Amino acid sequence: MASQDEIFKKIVSHAKEYGFVFPSSEIYDGLSAVYDYGPYGVELKNNLKTYWWKAMTQVHENIVGIDAAIFMHPKTWKASGHVDAFNDPMLDNKDSKKRYRADQLIEGYIEKIEDKINKEVEKASKRFENFDAEMFKSTNPRVVEYQVKSKEITQRLANAMTNNDMVDLKSMIDELEIACPESGSRNWTEVRQFNLMFSTQLGNIAGEESILYLRPETAQGIFVNFLNVQKSSRMKIPFGIAQIGKAFRNEIVARQFIFRMREFEQMEMQFFVPPGTELEWYERWKQIRLKWHHAIGHPASKLRFHDHDNLAHYANAAVDIQFEFPFGFRELEGIHSRTDFDLSQHANLSGKKITYFDPEKNESYIPYVIETSIGCDRMFLAALSHAYTEETLSDTKGEDSTRVVLKLHPAIAPVKCAILPLVKNKEELTTKARQIFKELKFSFNCQYDDKDAIGRRYRRQDAIGTPYCITVDFETLTDEMVTIRDRDTLEQVRIPISGLKEYIAEKVSMDKILAE
Ligand code: GAP
Repeated sequence: MASQDEIFKKIVSHAKEYGFVFPSSEIYDGLSAVYDYGPYGVELKNNLKTYWWKAMTQVHENIVGIDAAIFMHPKTWKASGHVDAFNDPMLDNKDSKKRYRADQLIEGYIEKIEDKINKEVEKASKRFENFDAEMFKSTNPRVVEYQVKSKEITQRLANAMTNNDMVDLKSMIDELEIACPESGSRNWTEVRQFNLMFSTQLGNIAGEESILYLRPETAQGIFVNFLNVQKSSRMKIPFGIAQIGKAFRNEIVARQFIFRMREFEQMEMQFFVPPGTELEWYERWKQIRLKWHHAIGHPASKLRFHDHDNLAHYANAAVDIQFEFPFGFRELEGIHSRTDFDLSQHANLSGKKITYFDPEKNESYIPYVIETSIGCDRMFLAALSHAYTEETLSDTKGEDSTRVVLKLHPAIAPVKCAILPLVKNKEELTTKARQIFKELKFSFNCQYDDKDAIGRRYRRQDAIGTPYCITVDFETLTDEMVTIRDRDTLEQVRIPISGLKEYIAEKVSMDKILAE
């Protein structure tokens, strides 16, 4: 069986071969951690954005959207804390000349301990009948020792990160004898803070005011527009503002394909609530967002909550929704209780009053904020890696016995149906198939394909995740019926051409998952 590492490599090459994701400016050997979306990639990404946008705005009467500019007044980033505190601790290996994030090296060490624990549990589960994993973990001396060590290191890392203690991060790397994954050397530089914001210059202004930052999060565009939106849309608290847009971070270590990019897209929503109610709303939004992931077909076993060990400067509670990528459970979405930090900071630095008059309480206050923030590209990778399936078929119905199929939820699949004349050289069939294509193309993203044998055409559609293939054969010409093949079950049913649109619309509709 292929390892997860091999499967991940296959997913990356599948994404390129079938026009989902390309390395940016590849003819110049690419640009590290920047990617372009190809013809099927852009469709899938747009569908994911639509799913998020509708789920957040259309379904919630009290959430509205905006599209703020990427460039913002430089004071925005001073107020938000990004100029002073949006840093990652980095260090270099003097032998390999490779740069790393100190916290990630230590996290990698903790992951290795967790792997050891899981291996011990797995070994023991094979030895004993009625095996109780929790009991084993709390009594087996070796496992207990591993757990204590893992907890101690996790806590010390969290403290060092919260206190910006670069010296202790370096001590940890030395004490744990962490070596460079590339060279095996332990010849490290000191740990330094590295600001992740990209900056550029505004044409006609001199001095500090001329430094523009490419926004590292979309959230600030929402905060600075809080009063504009609240007044113009006559929103009453609690209400939310949603936004999808590009964000930029000069990541020190950019690995794992589109998981960690320097230019990426965020889908963020800030929900404004009365002070004191934020933790209730925080719990509510955790559940709402988890359901959103389940509804698209990602099972509970692939998703989990992970509380932050060290809180960002603006949060009083924070959790990640982690997804099981081929390289393990990693952050997919963040849910943060951001208090009144951002609005207060903007009020202070701009000198403008940013308060809300609550008619029910008959008082003015600065609202508290719950934020949900998901990377669109990470969601894309989650959907792609969950959908990627290699199959050996037992009942092939004349098709090849192996296939690579993207089992994407039909509502997000790039192409909804393919219309295929059974054979290419029969004009009656191609004309009929083209006629069906012309009728359906106004309702769905469809493809007409008459190249190669029908089996190969099915495989091409499987590879891009098309949920339905419609075959036009000789009988179609007399009975006005077509065969429709289901991508996942391979079941083929005959239905009248007149019922095609309704049949497909029902299956690929987003309405049902939104209602969930
Ligand atoms: N406004 C809050 C915020 O930006 P974050 O946890 O830094 O919080 C939110 O980012 C989400 O954005 C993450 O959960 C992840 O999905 C996505 N994200 C962050 N950095 C990313 C990167 N370098 N590449 C791709 N996605 C990223």
